[in-house]
Amino acid sequence: MYPLQRNRRLRTSPALRNLVRETSLSPDDFLVPLFVVEGQGVREEIASMPGYYRLSLDHLKTEVKELWGMGLKAVLLFVKVPDSLKDNSGKEALNPGGLMQRAIKTIKEACPEMWVMTDVALDPYSRFGHDGIVEAGRILNDQTVEVLGAMGVSHARAGADMLAPSDMMDGRILGLRTALDEAGFSDTGIMSYSAKYASAFYGPFREALDSAPVAGEEAPADKKTYQMDPGNRREALKETEADIAEGADIVMVKPGLCYLDIVRDLREAFDVPLAVYQVSGEYAMVKAAAEKGWLDHDTVMMEQLLSIKRAGADLIATYFAREATRLLG
Ligand code: PBG
Repeated sequence: MYPLQRNRRLRTSPALRNLVRETSLSPDDFLVPLFVVEGQGVREEIASMPGYYRLSLDHLKTEVKELWGMGLKAVLLFVKVPDSLKDNSGKEALNPGGLMQRAIKTIKEACPEMWVMTDVALDPYSRFGHDGIVEAGRILNDQTVEVLGAMGVSHARAGADMLAPSDMMDGRILGLRTALDEAGFSDTGIMSYSAKYASAFYGPFREALDSAPVAGEEAPADKKTYQMDPGNRREALKETEADIAEGADIVMVKPGLCYLDIVRDLREAFDVPLAVYQVSGEYAMVKAAAEKGWLDHDTVMMEQLLSIKRAGADLIATYFAREATRLLG
């Protein structure tokens, strides 16, 4: 008795395995998150994100040229705002001379073709570390959406190609789309963080930007009244459907690895490009385990990225973009 099917026949050599592989990665898949800080000559490593840095504008310029040279053609910008500029209104987020606005211009001058996406959310600007305006212990939805619209227009005016609202307020895509169109930026796109979960995997990012919610009487200590409950699956479809109806060009699932069932659900339900954010905590776990010698860094990194793509992602925001691109080369 011999097996009728010999599946191993297709696994006999690397050349054949490459021929029949169903999913593959390319630098075209990656969005590179970048953290920008004030100052000159600043390149500070983030303690919980080994190998990842906060960059001042001069270093940012060098960085984007290098990325472009490697074939990485899209960046996702975040800024670390000094405490003195944080408040409860998002005023600094609208400053035409603010750090984000200068970062966009710096990149467009250094590397005009680089696709520049910007984070639209109030947390780096909030003295409470919240993505919205806080009043009496609550996050105000509609007032926040107003500010986000103005913030998006300010980014577009500085030269951003696409806005990435990561706040999870209701109606923010429509608010942003309307504000952009009214200001004459109908070509500026929106990548919505449509299924963003209240995840503990954001810890290292909050360290990078000093943006963790501040526990106290005045504001909630977590983001659970706006980010999604990790137990919910159907709700991701509802959130994403609304964002597409409101004008999102690209939708997103965040975090990545623990939420690949959601990625598959959205892939099957909708015909718009789907992004996945492999977040800071996912990066930190791989780095930490590799540092201990418990996992093989490069193999695990590529396996995770490939799995995200296999689940249905068209593009992946990842702190591994550089390292993965080097390996693919
Ligand atoms: C906040 C924002 C967060 C991330 C992107 N935008 C953190 C949060 O919601 O608290 C997390 C990204 C990461 O962990 O890599 N608007």
